[in-house]
Amino acid sequence: MAIILGINTHHAGSSAALVIDGIPVAAIGEERLNRIKYYAGFPSLSILKVLEIGNVTFKDIDYVAIGRDASANVTKKLEYVLRNPSKLLNLLKIRGARDALGDLKTLFVEDCGANPNDLRFEQVNVEHHLAHIASAYFISPWDYAAGFSVDGSGDFVTCMLTECVGQEIKVKQRVYVPQSLGSLYTMVCQFIGYGKYGDEGKVMGLAPYGKPAYTAIFKDIIALTEDAFELNPKYFLPFGSNQGVEMNDKGEMTLLRHYSDHMVDVFGKPRDPSTEITQRDMDLAYSLQARFEEVYMHMLNVLYKQVPTERIVMAGGVVLNSVANGKMFEQTPFRETCIQPAAGDEGLSLGAALYVSQSVLHEKQRYVMSNAFLGPEYSADEMRATLEAAKVEYRELSREDLLVATSSEIEQGNIIGWFQGRMEWGPRALGNRSILAHPGRADMKDILNARIKRREWFRPFAPVVLAERQDEIFEYHHSSPYMLHVYKIRAEWRERLTTVRHVDDTGRLQSVSRDENPLYYDLVKTFGDRTGIPVLINTSFNENEPIICNPVEAVDCYLRTKMDVLVLGNFFCKKSPAPEALNLS
Ligand SMILES: [Fe+2]
Repeated sequence: MAIILGINTHHAGSSAALVIDGIPVAAIGEERLNRIKYYAGFPSLSILKVLEIGNVTFKDIDYVAIGRDASANVTKKLEYVLRNPSKLLNLLKIRGARDALGDLKTLFVEDCGANPNDLRFEQVNVEHHLAHIASAYFISPWDYAAGFSVDGSGDFVTCMLTECVGQEIKVKQRVYVPQSLGSLYTMVCQFIGYGKYGDEGKVMGLAPYGKPAYTAIFKDIIALTEDAFELNPKYFLPFGSNQGVEMNDKGEMTLLRHYSDHMVDVFGKPRDPSTEITQRDMDLAYSLQARFEEVYMHMLNVLYKQVPTERIVMAGGVVLNSVANGKMFEQTPFRETCIQPAAGDEGLSLGAALYVSQSVLHEKQRYVMSNAFLGPEYSADEMRATLEAAKVEYRELSREDLLVATSSEIEQGNIIGWFQGRMEWGPRALGNRSILAHPGRADMKDILNARIKRREWFRPFAPVVLAERQDEIFEYHHSSPYMLHVYKIRAEWRERLTTVRHVDDTGRLQSVSRDENPLYYDLVKTFGDRTGIPVLINTSFNENEPIICNPVEAVDCYLRTKMDVLVLGNFFCKKSPAPEALNLS
C-alpha cells in the first residue's frame, strides 16, 4: 500500500490530492482555502487539509507526485531555442520562476510546518499531459480508451494523443510549443477585453451572439495540417514562449499581451474592458469558437485514426470547452467520454498521484469516480455554532420537510444557498456548494445577477436535470455529471426553461443521478414532482470570489447578498422580511 500526495504547484490551479492504496481520499484546489482565485503558488493549505481528511501525517507519505517534468521534451526545447535564439530569455525566465520547486522539502517545512525528519517521501515528476490524461483515464471505468489532452502548454507540449491500455498510457503523438489551441483562444479573449486568467469560458458564452464575420481570417490565423494544426505567427505576441503568464506577489496569475500589432491592423483597437461589447467583439467570439471547434474535431479525428475505439478520456484546460464537447459525438466517431471535474490544471495533482499509483507502482486497486465530492465537510455542530455565532435564525428540519420547504421557496421565485456534505473537486458547483433557483422564470437571470452574481449579461445560468429525464429535455443523451457538455434544449421544453436557455437554445447541463448525490437528486425530483419541471438552476455558491468552502463563508455570503434562503445541512434559514417582493405573475 502506498500513500501518494499529488500536488500542482507554481502553476495556476494550485491543488493537492491524496491517494491511498490506489483510491483518492481527498482533493482540493488551494483557491478554496486561501480565497485567491486561480492561485498559482505552493498549495500549503490544501496539502494540510487532504492529510487531515486522510488521517495521515507527513511521516506517512511515500511519494509526492507533481504534474510537471522539466526533463521531458528537452530535445524539442533545445531545437526551438536554436531556431529562435531571441526566445531564450523567455524560457530562462520561466525556468527561473519554477526553480523554487527544486527544493520541495524546504517548502513542506517552511510553508506547511513539517518536521524535516519526517519527510522521507520520494518525489516523482510526471510529464504534464500524461498527468492530465491519467486524471481522466484512471478515474474511468474502462481498461482501454483513447486519451486526449489539450491546453495552453505544459512541459513544452500543447496537445497529447494517447492509447490507454490497462495501467499504461502510451503516447501516440505530441503537438509542441508554439502550436497551441489554448494560446489561440487566450489571445482572442484578451483582444476582446477578457484578459484575466480563466476568462475563456466567458467568451465561449458570448460566441452565440455573434455572426461568422471573420471565417476567412480565422482560417489564416490557424491552419489545419494532416495530423495537427499550425498558428500563423503574424497574429501572436510573444509568439513562441507561449508562456505569456506571470504570477504576481499574491500568487495570482496575470497574462502578458498575447496579440500582435497585426491583430490591431486587421481588427482595429482591442476592446478596453471598461467599454461596452460591440458587434465586432461578438463576431470575433463567434468566429473564434467556430474555428476552434473545427480544429478540436480535427484533432479528435486524428486521434481516432490512431486509436480506433468509441471511448475517449479527455483532460487539459481546453476540454473545459463544453460547447465543443457537446458537438463531438456528431462530428467524430467517439461515443463515450470520461472527463473528470477538475479537467484543467487543478486536476494535475490528482492525475500525477494516480499515474504513480497505476503506471509506476502498478497498484491493484483501481478507482472509478462516481461523484466529485472529494473536499472537506463540516459537522452539524459546526454548522449550528456558525449560525448561532452570526445570530442567524434557523429551523432544523427533517429530510422530508427540508426538501419540501426548499422546493416551495424555489417555486415562489426565491434564491437558495445550498450547502451540504463534502465540497466539490474542480471548478463547478455540483450540488453541495450551489445556489439554486427556478429555471423557468423569465426574470430570474436578472434577479440572480442583480442580487448576488453580478455576471456579464450574456452569460447563461446552467441547468441541473434528473439524469433519467435528460433525453426527454435535451437533444443528446450522453450524461454530463460535471457540467462539461452543452446540448440543445428540445423545442417543447424551451418555454419552460427560459432562464437556463442560452440565446442559441442550448444549456450546459449537469445530469444528476440518485447514486451520485441522493439529497440533491431528491430536491430536483421534489421540485419536478410539484411543478412538472425536473430541472433547477444550479450556479456556484459565491459572489465574485472562489466558491465558498466552509459554513462561515456560506453564512457570510448569505448575509452579505440578497439571497433569500440558506440551507446549511438540515438547518433552514430564511430572511425576514424577504429582500424584495418578486412579481409572481
Ligand atoms: Fe495543462
